[in-house]
Amino acid sequence: MNYNKQIIIALDFSTEKACLDFLKDIDPDRCRVKVGKELFTRCGPDLIRKISAEGYEIFLDLKFHDIPNTVAGALKAAADLGVWMVNVHASGGKAMLDASREALNFKEAPLLIAVTVLTSLGSEDLTEIGVSRNSQQQVQLLADLSVNSGLDGVVCSAQETDFLRSQCPIEFKLVTPGIRPKGDSVDDQKRVVTPRSALEQGSDFLVMGRPITQTNNPSVKLDSIIQDIES
Ligand code: C5P
Repeated sequence: MNYNKQIIIALDFSTEKACLDFLKDIDPDRCRVKVGKELFTRCGPDLIRKISAEGYEIFLDLKFHDIPNTVAGALKAAADLGVWMVNVHASGGKAMLDASREALNFKEAPLLIAVTVLTSLGSEDLTEIGVSRNSQQQVQLLADLSVNSGLDGVVCSAQETDFLRSQCPIEFKLVTPGIRPKGDSVDDQKRVVTPRSALEQGSDFLVMGRPITQTNNPSVKLDSIIQDIES
C-alpha cells in the first residue's frame, strides 16, 4: 500500500510548549496534524500560524455548529489561517452546509468535512435528543446531506467506514479516529482498528493521537506505523 501522508496526528496538548516540543521530532512531510478545541482555546490563532510556518498541514478540528452566516464567517477566518482542513456538524442543517460550502468555494480552500453523529452518542442518547433512527441510519442520512451540499468528506468511526465507502462517491473523504497499531493500548477508545485495516476498509485519513504523542520516540513510532502501512 502506498503511504501518502494519510496519518493526522492529534495534537492533544494543553500548552504551546508541549505542542512545539513534540513537533521538533516530527517531519511535516511524513504526516499531517490536528488541532482541536482545547489547544486552540488555550493558544489561539498564533499557534496555528507558528505550526503552519513550520510546514505542517493542519486539520483545525473546531466542529462549527451555528446559524449559516456565523459558520460561514468562522470558516473564512479558518481559511485565512491557511489550514488544510476544517469541519462543521452536519446536524447544523442543509442551509448551514450550503453556506459552509459557499464560504470555502475558492481555489486552494481548506478541505471541508462534516461530523455526522458523535461516536460518544449511543442509541439512548439519540432517543433523548429526539432522533428515532438508529445510529447507522442517522450517520447515513447526515453523510448524504453532506454529499449533497458538496462537502469534501466526513469524520467517521472505523465501524462506519465500510458502509459509507460503499454509499458515498469515491472522492468523498472518510476521516477516521479510533486507530491503534496492533498491540498498543486502546486507552479510552471502545472499538479500535489498525492503521492498515482502516485504510483497507476505505478510510482516506487516520486520526491518531496517543499512540504517537505518548511514546518516548514519536518519530520512530510514526515511521514504524508508516512501514506497516507500506508493507
Ligand atoms: O489519542 P487518540 O488516538 O485516541 O486521539 C484521537 C483523536 O481523535 C482525539 O483528538 C479525539 O478527540 C478525536 N476523535 C475521536 N473520536 C471521534 C472523533 C474525534 O477520538 N469520534
